[in-house]
Amino acid sequence: MGFAKKDILDMESLSADEITIILDIADRMKEISKRPIKKVPTLRGKTVILFFHEPSTRTRTSFEIAAKRLSADSLSINFSSSSMVKQETLIDTVQNLEAMSPDVIIIRHAASGTPHMLARLIKSSVINAGDGMHAHPSQSLLDLMTVREKKGKISGLRIAIIGDISHSRVARSNSIGFTKMGANVVLAGPPTMIPKGIENLGVSVSYNVDDAICDADVIMMLRIQKERQKDFLFPTEREYARYYGLNRKRLTNAKREVLIMHPGPINRGVEIASDVADGPYSIILEQVTNGVAVRMALLYLVAGGARNADTN
Ligand code: CP
Repeated sequence: MGFAKKDILDMESLSADEITIILDIADRMKEISKRPIKKVPTLRGKTVILFFHEPSTRTRTSFEIAAKRLSADSLSINFSSSSMVKQETLIDTVQNLEAMSPDVIIIRHAASGTPHMLARLIKSSVINAGDGMHAHPSQSLLDLMTVREKKGKISGLRIAIIGDISHSRVARSNSIGFTKMGANVVLAGPPTMIPKGIENLGVSVSYNVDDAICDADVIMMLRIQKERQKDFLFPTEREYARYYGLNRKRLTNAKREVLIMHPGPINRGVEIASDVADGPYSIILEQVTNGVAVRMALLYLVAGGARNADTN
């Protein structure tokens, strides 16, 4: 099998072979979601806790659906309904959860590095569902799966990731993930939203969106993450949309078979026009569908399904 990781924390710590194993298992998991009875007994008797300290629609729902489709017992807790509102620390909270013998804790947190710290403290597997501006490995894996499915390969493709690169854990994880799988990644956006030294990830940088998209096989648009910005990084949303947003006119410069992606949530009319987000090149909702399959694969691999059962 070749996959022995306890935790899924970031794309740096996954090898190209491990990523391929995850994507291959996710392809098989996807078939389960097309059956009339969308459930297999693979993780029966396993317990999965989702612990989200930041809002989420796609990641949280798809992890929960993934756990249920594999017959794991899953439960979800929020910061606002936990005893952390009574000043219990995160470490105490997680150690108390660990005392109830979960097999996997899935965590989203605003502070970069939180899942890594918890993974060192507890025996349960930890899956990072997004930590601050650092990493979002399951998003990157579902993006890789979707591109591989649509294009038949990843290696050699040109991937343009456009928008608020500085604050995006998706941009960081995808820069690492796509580069590791042999793609060429170009990051584009306003100079105020591209961190210095990002080329060290093996990517190239452009401040001109038209240059970035003209020879791209995949265009991935990113939301402006106002909740993480301390300063004003662009004059107005209207101006941002004009110079950095993807609209139908700008898309005429792209390749005919280009794929349009977005991790969500979308700010329609800002980074992407509605007719592009909903148009023929968009695979945004296919990303969401594949999110369930990838998260089923991750739970299967870390919760011992690979060792203890098959997927039938
Ligand atoms: N892509 C993503 O992480 O979406 P959510 O914040 O809705 O989970």
